[in-house]
Amino acid sequence: MSNSKKVFSFIIRSIKPFKFYLFLHFLVIVFISINVSFVPLISKILLNKIIATEHSLIIQETIDIMMLLAFLIVLPSIVLRISDYAWTMFLPKLRHQITHDSIQKLLSQSHHFFQNNFSGSLVNKVRDLFNSSPKIIEIFLYNFVGGALAVLFAFFTLSTINYIFAIGLIVWVAIIIPIAYRSALQTNRVSMNVANQQSRIMGNIVDIFANIQNIKLFSSAKFELNRADKFQKKFTTLYSQRGVYLNKYYTLLGLISSFYFIACFAFLIWLYAHEKVTVGDFILIFGINNFLHNIIQDAMKQIRNFLEEFSVIKEALEVIDKVREVKDCKEKLEVSKGEIIFEKVKFSYSEGSPLFSDKSVKIKAGEKVGLVGRSGSGKSTFINLLLRFYDVQEGKILIDNQDISKISQDSLHDAIGVIPQEAILFHRNLIENISYGNKEQLSKEELLQKVMNSAQKASAHKFIEDMPGGYYSQVGERGIKLSGGQRQRIAIARTFFKNAPILILDEATSQLDSVNENMIQESLKSLMENKTTLVIAHRLSTLQMMDRILVFSNGKIVEDGCHEDLLGLNGYYKRLWSAQSGGVLTYQIEGGATATQLFPLKT
Ligand SMILES: Nc1ncnc2c1ncn2[C@@H]1O[C@H](COP(=O)(O)OP(=O)(O)OP(=O)(O)O)[C@@H](O)[C@H]1O
Ligand SMILES: [Mg+2]
Repeated sequence: MSNSKKVFSFIIRSIKPFKFYLFLHFLVIVFISINVSFVPLISKILLNKIIATEHSLIIQETIDIMMLLAFLIVLPSIVLRISDYAWTMFLPKLRHQITHDSIQKLLSQSHHFFQNNFSGSLVNKVRDLFNSSPKIIEIFLYNFVGGALAVLFAFFTLSTINYIFAIGLIVWVAIIIPIAYRSALQTNRVSMNVANQQSRIMGNIVDIFANIQNIKLFSSAKFELNRADKFQKKFTTLYSQRGVYLNKYYTLLGLISSFYFIACFAFLIWLYAHEKVTVGDFILIFGINNFLHNIIQDAMKQIRNFLEEFSVIKEALEVIDKVREVKDCKEKLEVSKGEIIFEKVKFSYSEGSPLFSDKSVKIKAGEKVGLVGRSGSGKSTFINLLLRFYDVQEGKILIDNQDISKISQDSLHDAIGVIPQEAILFHRNLIENISYGNKEQLSKEELLQKVMNSAQKASAHKFIEDMPGGYYSQVGERGIKLSGGQRQRIAIARTFFKNAPILILDEATSQLDSVNENMIQESLKSLMENKTTLVIAHRLSTLQMMDRILVFSNGKIVEDGCHEDLLGLNGYYKRLWSAQSGGVLTYQIEGGATATQLFPLKT
């Protein structure tokens, strides 16, 4: 489907549930469009009657027409209230649906998608759909459909006087619409530049405040202000350029309309001189022209806005409607034992050389497996493939003999508890954070009890109790109000709470002091019982208790066995182990300086 078609089908899909309100709008539009011709028509009848009636009888003879005219003049303000009502009912519902659909679509996107799209820009795209969709609907209904109907009714009314007027109207409209459209396209291009520059200005401001600490530390407020001014200057130039374009186009449209009005006037006088029209026809023609002029001028201005909003929606849909890379399935994963098999897996992030090629590995149910290897060797990728954040290019990954590409991602993630390296929390209270994803039906007390048990096991209970709001404390955006170690303990508590049959620990205790770490190691041991567990650790000493260790190098598993066996091999693992001192590796950087890191740079 082309991108423009996508916008139309998105709008039609969005308004479909609100047919009743659209029907109300349509009634209002028809009424207003008819009134454009009807008020001048009744005025004409009234004027002709006044002229033809003797002074003393005028009021008596024309009272009914005057009443009708008054009614027609008053009625729009009542009818417009119906339109207001329809908007008030329609708009929040429409926006609710658009936001709901957008969030739903975005949430079903793959992990890779979120690595390529910043959350700020995704929020903007949702906001664009939220704001621009109602605008485009309003312009289409009130300006375009309303304008077209008004011209149509005027055409019929004018043809009752003289078909030349009707044809003149069509010619006038037929000349100004293409001009307006072309100019709108032209100004739209400039408008896009203005909009881009505007978002650059905003982006720069966001960057400034995100880096406020650096600005203070490097005393660079003045530098940043000057830099921001440069962005503003470019914006001012582009904005004036757009103003010049618009001025030219409005002048041209104004001239064409004036020419049309003068022609109508001249023709009317000629007809009157030949006794072919009445005085009332003057008021009819002027009335219709005057109303139509306003309506058409509005519609012409709105073409530009329409195109602008249209491209905003188009761009937003390009991101929000993006085809999902990882397709979901309905079948649910049933974990009975927790056996994991990588069967001839081939995977690369992009076109480049594959990270994993023909990788086969079987992790027995309940086995505790450590993953070690230098930074960039593929440990996290191995885990990401198991979590199906990416699809493998060849081969398959099986959990209890079920191919993970053929089961629902929700059921897969329900079966795996992950303690990530960098724990990120919701800006919600600690109960909500620890019980996050809970699907059990628990009373408030039961939930709190379970949350507290989990926090105790994760050595988090004490510091939570010391917080002013206890378990009801809000943790700030991404959990900013907690220390790194505290956040990590909340993530551990979360995993205790979830109690999934498969466990993944990615440097789960890296941010903790040794006292807390020792306490948690004990709890983790009990958490790991009867669970298949994968542990990534930079401190090799923490892996001694593992049943098995997989040693990664450049996407390959180069050694596989328990700690003692691997030491016995006297190979890569042994070198890593020997190089480690006090749980962390020291190595010599070229040039003689000593640095501390997990693995030596050269193997
Ligand atoms: N999203 C991505 N897109 C492209 N390449 C990636 C992506 N994520 C990782 N890589 C590359 O894949 C390789 C393996 O990365 P991975 O994150 O699996 O390493 P790791 O063993 O977990 O390292 P670390 O110990 O530093 O966490 C690296 O060369 C990395 O640059
Ligand atoms: Mg990693």
